[in-house]
Amino acid sequence: MVQKRHACQSYPHFLHGADYNPEQWLHDKSIWDVDMALMQQANCNEMSVGIFSWAKLEPREGEYDFSFLDEIIEKIHSNGGKVILATPSGARPRWLAEKYPEVLRVGHDGVREHFRGRHNHCYTSPVYREKVGAINRKLAERYGNHPAVVAWHISNEYSGECRCPLCQEAFRNFLREKYDNDIQKLNLAWWTTFWSKTFDSFDQIEAPGKHTENGLHGLNLDWRRFVTHQTKDFILAECAPIRELSPKLPVTINMMFEFYDLNYHQLADAIDIASWDSYPEWHNGDDAVIAQKTAFWHDLYRSLKKRPFLLMESTPSLVNWKSYNKPKKPGMDVLSAMQAVAHGSDSVQYFQWRKSRGSSEKLHGAVVGHDGTGDTRVFRSVQKTGQILKQIDEICGTLTQAKAAIVFDWENMWALDDAQGYANVGKQYMNTCYEYHRVFWEKGIDCDIISPKADLSGYALVVAPMLYMTDEETIENLKQYVAAGGTLYGTYMLGTVNETDLCWLGGMPGGALKEVFGILAEEIDTLYPHEQQHAGMGDREFTLVDYCEVIHAKGARVLAEYADGWYAGMPAATENRYGKGLAVYQACRDREGLKDALLDRLIRDAGIQPNLPCALPHGVTAHSRTDGVHTYIFVENYSDQTVEEVALPGSMTDLLTGENVTSVQLPPYGFGIFRKE
Ligand code: GAL
Ligand code: ZN
Repeated sequence: MVQKRHACQSYPHFLHGADYNPEQWLHDKSIWDVDMALMQQANCNEMSVGIFSWAKLEPREGEYDFSFLDEIIEKIHSNGGKVILATPSGARPRWLAEKYPEVLRVGHDGVREHFRGRHNHCYTSPVYREKVGAINRKLAERYGNHPAVVAWHISNEYSGECRCPLCQEAFRNFLREKYDNDIQKLNLAWWTTFWSKTFDSFDQIEAPGKHTENGLHGLNLDWRRFVTHQTKDFILAECAPIRELSPKLPVTINMMFEFYDLNYHQLADAIDIASWDSYPEWHNGDDAVIAQKTAFWHDLYRSLKKRPFLLMESTPSLVNWKSYNKPKKPGMDVLSAMQAVAHGSDSVQYFQWRKSRGSSEKLHGAVVGHDGTGDTRVFRSVQKTGQILKQIDEICGTLTQAKAAIVFDWENMWALDDAQGYANVGKQYMNTCYEYHRVFWEKGIDCDIISPKADLSGYALVVAPMLYMTDEETIENLKQYVAAGGTLYGTYMLGTVNETDLCWLGGMPGGALKEVFGILAEEIDTLYPHEQQHAGMGDREFTLVDYCEVIHAKGARVLAEYADGWYAGMPAATENRYGKGLAVYQACRDREGLKDALLDRLIRDAGIQPNLPCALPHGVTAHSRTDGVHTYIFVENYSDQTVEEVALPGSMTDLLTGENVTSVQLPPYGFGIFRKE
């Protein structure tokens, strides 16, 4: 049976469009008509509107003027297009900030911002919530059932934090609830006896900051959790009128690349579909590496809701905010769009449709430039992407069935980075997660990126790199997974601290993880940058950098041993049968090689099939989507070299040519999309 879960159920087709700011051209609406003609020419079928329109929609408090939005939505609709409608809270109008300064953020120094910029409102302010709620209600009433509107784009790129008195009190209330209003419970959880930091009352607690207490790890961690919590609370408040008046349309928030400050796993259940804004720095070094890191985030956003996501923004050419702003080379424009689809996106959308004439984004790439025509290289590549999306429309809504997963946890990252110890110049958690993901990417194996609390039962192999912070729920989740037959791969630092950043007592890894892995970790040797160690496995030797943990096998079988240093002969990697499953431990950081060798065998033993039947040349990868009946395979070449021949798993239909083929030749930055019957 064919099974699909389209991102936008009311329009089960790929969306191809852009952020569109027609309000910037209200003084010359002839531009709008040019836009409509160009949208058709560009094979665009969707525009995201209203993102920064608040000042036009509510020019004075309580005085709404929807005329421009009415008109543009009708125009897009009669032009055959769809609309993703934004709530305007990402940037407020001047009157709002002037009349109600509490909507402006307060920084570390206690100073309140003036009206400026965007994405900088207080999430706690009741006034801001009220004003956002009011305009969102109007928007939902007016457009919530409009046939052109297919989804809600809530605000824009939520980020940041505020230290105003309202937020400080909300933080204290968050802590009161978390610690059952018992200050001694908090004192113990944060280990405040250290350096005489004991609190007598919740009233004494302040947000950690540049000039306030920032040495209590539990405090720092709970503040970060609060920021996510408060942002989520704001999102839920924003969505309330929309859910009430426009219940059929999905809501999304546009998330970001390597975004550090919000735990997106926590935000997932506030939204219906995930979407994100992808701006890789193509051509700055090896494009294969850049593609793989981008793939990590595509995988994460697909995994967030376990269904197709939307690529909400990408540039058709270049951005304007990096140190060096280089356009994508011919080929990379379409390839990078197809990469998103290969990983589970139901859209390719750009920032922006038309270049603004003034202000900071006037030099940012756009589908339509200041020339105002469709006669450009960039426009033609957008046209081509749109053409391809039409050709492969049957793939829209299909799912990815990854058998492998990598655990990536924001809270773990925050705790690790805050830890004073190991290498204080940087723990390299993100990069380490990328390194494990690379192994799957290079083999053309689909891989989910999940939270440590995710349901693991569908995976044959789960890799949890540097999972330093493991609370009891995580320990139980990992343990049950292995007991039931899963293969779990852990590394150095696993299970060091609990939920409030207190070290586990009784030896590492904490709690039941010792039995699951059959090891005991005793010490960790942090290497100087100029140092290297080695580990031997069979007749192979691997170079180690940064971390060598000294562990004892307590029931585990030793797979690799340290070859030098004072711990020569001790285990560098182990495996342990536990219940029906297997727990593998890598005690050291390898430069490359040891993890590849270990995972090679585990992938085979776990029965995980790569998407292609052969080893892939450097820069080539393959990903798949399925509707339960057909399998679609995307083969992508991120190198600037032609790849002569890559074998497909049997005879497949090339969706771009209609031919039956058994292998593919890929030009530089080329790709192919195939269907297995
Ligand atoms: C995004 C943002 C857009 C635009 C774009 C430029 O982060 O959501 O509004 O500024 O960057 O690349
Ligand atoms: Zn605030």
